[in-house]
Order: sequence, then structure tokens, then C-alpha cells
Amino acid sequence: MASRGNADSPSLQQQVEILKQQLAQAQKLTALGELVGTTTHEFNNVLMTIINYAKMGMRHKDGPSRDKCFEKIYAAGKRAANITNTVLGMARNRSAVQEPTDLTLLVENTLLLLEREMNKYRIAVEKKFQPIPEAYVNGNQVQQVLLNLLINARQAMPSGGRLFIRLAHDAENDMIDLVVRDNGCGIPVEKLPRIFDSFYSTKDGPDDSGKGGTGLGLSMCREIIESHHGRIRVESTIGKGTAFTLKLPTASKAAAKRPPLCAPLAPQPNACNRPTVSS
Ligand SMILES: Nc1ncnc2c1ncn2[C@@H]1O[C@H](COP(=O)(O)OP(=O)(O)O)[C@@H](O)[C@H]1O
Ligand SMILES: [Mg+2]
Repeated sequence: MASRGNADSPSLQQQVEILKQQLAQAQKLTALGELVGTTTHEFNNVLMTIINYAKMGMRHKDGPSRDKCFEKIYAAGKRAANITNTVLGMARNRSAVQEPTDLTLLVENTLLLLEREMNKYRIAVEKKFQPIPEAYVNGNQVQQVLLNLLINARQAMPSGGRLFIRLAHDAENDMIDLVVRDNGCGIPVEKLPRIFDSFYSTKDGPDDSGKGGTGLGLSMCREIIESHHGRIRVESTIGKGTAFTLKLPTASKAAAKRPPLCAPLAPQPNACNRPTVSS
């Protein structure tokens, strides 16, 4: 018999709801924590660039050298602003609003955040971006998914490797395909069905950059993609690598699915909520 709740003891269903909310909160905090780790590191690199060029500018008094130093400082400053805006945007914007989004730009910006990390671990990034229509997504959430997939891929290639990222329009289904493929360790076939489970992890804990090991990354990815009416699929071969494919709706597909602002009752002029012009 299903247990009922009273004032003192919540029912099983209420307990499940509370635990689900706590899990969602833990997922968000994990994502934010990893992002802060990535961006703090990147930010520090940018600061070193600024400090070094400022020192150089103080040493060299001639105009051309100083101009060059200012240019470098300006470029590094803009990069720093870009980095902090990404974190602030993610921390502030907790809304789940989905809107037409340029996924190519989003992928480029996300790769920019991880550029130095990928260099450090000797991972070559190959991009194949086909022209795609806008996707109907929440940019922050898709960026979280992408960061998770990229960091997992990096962690699967501890002694370097190749990361392949592809964007394409699946015209037949009017969906955007985003593929993240690595040539890392791969996932054993018997473990594949578990990787999307909350708290499933084969890592000992966070690595020295503070990432991974919670087992919350892919469960969050799946939840986000499902809330977008998308799909997430994985293919993997031990010793060869892993590919995650995301399928996300285009803005036109999402618009076609949304109910019209008003249902046309009869074919009358101005029957819909279109703005009319009167003089
Ligand atoms: N690209 C990948 N290559 C190999 N294994 C992977 C990859 N992505 C995910 N995995 C496996 O799936 C598990 C769950 O991933 P995730 O939910 O991100 O948790 P975490 O990274 O904290 O372990 C990982 O521990 C790892 O075993
Ligand atoms: Mg992970």
C-alpha cells in the first residue's frame, strides 16, 4: 500500500520529490563549481599576459613597442571580460527560457574557455561546422552539456589525443546534430547503460583541476537534452574512443510544434491576434 503523508512524516512520493530537488541542486552546483575551476584558471592565464605586457611597456619607452604592448593588453582584457561574462551569465541566469540560439557561436565560445586546458593535455581539437539554422534552446544549459562532454572527453585521453566536434543540420528531421568524439579509452559495453545514471562514475574523485568524479555530469546532460525534446546518444569502442551525439530542435521546428497564438475559428478577416493597423 502506498504510504500517505501526514504533518510529521512526508509520504514516499514527497520524499522522492525532495530528493529530486536536492539532486538537481547538486547537479547545478557541480556544474558551476567545474566552470568556476576552468574559468579561474583561464582568467589567471590572461592576467599573466596583461602583467607581462604591462612590464614590457614600462621597460620600452619607444612608441611602437608601447603600442604593441597596449594592443596585447587590450586583447587580453577583452578575453578576460568574455570569460567572466560566461560565468556570471551562467550563475545569474537560472531561467530555463528556450529561444532561437546560434549554436555555432555557443560552441566556439565554449571551446575558447577550454582552449588552454586542451593544449595543456595535448589534445588537438578538430572542428567541422556546417552552416546550420538557429536551434531552439536555453544557451546556458546547452553550454553546460557541452562543457561536461568536453571535460569527460579530455579525461578519457590522459596522455593526449584528438577531439572532434561536428555541427550539422539533419534536414530530414529538422534537428541540429552536435557530435563530440574523442579517441580516448572508450566505455565497456556492459557499462554503457549505466553512464547516464546519477552518481555513476568510474573516476576516483575530482582530478587535479577539480573536475569530474561526481557522476552527475551525464545525468544532468540527459535531463537538459530531454527538457529540450532532443536526444542524446552514445557510441563507444574500448581503446578506440567515444562519440556523443546531441540532437536539438531547430527554431523553425520548435515554432511549428508550438500551438498558434489563437486557433482560427472561422476564416474571418483579422481572426487572429495579429496586430492590426487602424487609422
Ligand atoms: N568520453 C568518455 N570516454 C570514456 N568514458 C566516459 C566518457 N564520458 C563519460 N564516460 C564514463 O561515464 C562516467 C559518468 O560520466 P559523468 O556522469 O560525467 O560523471 P564523472 O565525469 O563525474 O565520472 C564516467 O565516470 C566515465 O566512466
Ligand atoms: Mg563528467
